[in-house]
Amino acid sequence: MKLGIIGGGAMAEAIVSGLLTSQILASRDIIVSDPQPERCLVLSERYGVHTTGDNLAVCAAELLLLAIKPQMFATVVAQIAEQVSSQLVISILAGISLETLVASFPQCALVRAMPNTPALVRSGITALSRSSSTSEALFTRAKDLFAAVGTVVEVPESSMNAVTGLSGSGPGYLAVIIEGLIDGGVAVGLPRNIATRLVLQTVRGSAELLIQENLHPAVLKDRVTSPGGTTIAGIAQLEAHGVRSACIAAVQAAADRAKALGEKND
Ligand SMILES: NC(=O)c1ccc[n+]([C@@H]2O[C@H](COP(=O)([O-])OP(=O)(O)OC[C@H]3O[C@@H](n4cnc5c(N)ncnc54)[C@H](OP(=O)(O)O)[C@@H]3O)[C@@H](O)[C@H]2O)c1
Repeated sequence: MKLGIIGGGAMAEAIVSGLLTSQILASRDIIVSDPQPERCLVLSERYGVHTTGDNLAVCAAELLLLAIKPQMFATVVAQIAEQVSSQLVISILAGISLETLVASFPQCALVRAMPNTPALVRSGITALSRSSSTSEALFTRAKDLFAAVGTVVEVPESSMNAVTGLSGSGPGYLAVIIEGLIDGGVAVGLPRNIATRLVLQTVRGSAELLIQENLHPAVLKDRVTSPGGTTIAGIAQLEAHGVRSACIAAVQAAADRAKALGEKND
């Protein structure tokens, strides 16, 4: 199977890297188009994939992945639509609905996907939904592709903007929270490199614990808060500063933004 990717940015790179590491595809089976020659050079040198500045050169691949910004969708469709007829087209574009994809590529099997950047280290999570004309076999092919770079969940297309605001944007939220905790460590006198190691392993370990023991987060919180202890003193400050409502508002704002990006392309 040949994979053509239009748009060689951060997310395309994460997926290419994961696919090659998991040996789902070989570098010779992947071609990426991007307008920046320097970007093409980076991708071909780093991953050995074919690269081109010409989007049409990618359209011969059986599997086409759209990885441009949503704002570029209409431009790219105008360029390639006539060359794309019977392929499986997967879009990872925030906000672009299956309805818009079907109207743009009426003869294709279509999958809307929302991955996230930990795909780069094969720890991503991707939500997928398919158009009504996409067969189970082709949908499985799309699932296999993203399973190579992490976990896969199937969701109704109506949930896609919500997924975008949660797991699509989630690594960004966590980066801010992690940075804040590291700064907290520095504020109480720890060297930044030690604070960073402490925070990253605490985040990874806590996520692993929740996953492996299938724990509700509230149970973990209750386990670590002893009466009159340190953790409850810290949590009281998180609550006083509205950390919970800030998280909810962040996901809501990102989901709204995904919806707005899609409406521009309807
Ligand atoms: N990053 C994430 O965490 C994430 C998560 C889930 C989904 N997504 C989705 O993935 C898509 C790509 O996001 P990204 O973060 O990878 O963005 P990005 O790094 O900006 O990548 C987009 C790439 O497409 C290139 N491009 C621009 N116009 C093009 C054209 N006409 N033909 C071909 N390539 C073109 C851009 O080049 P220039 O830099 O020269 O413009 C850039 O290299 C977005 O639709 C986003 O919604 C991203």
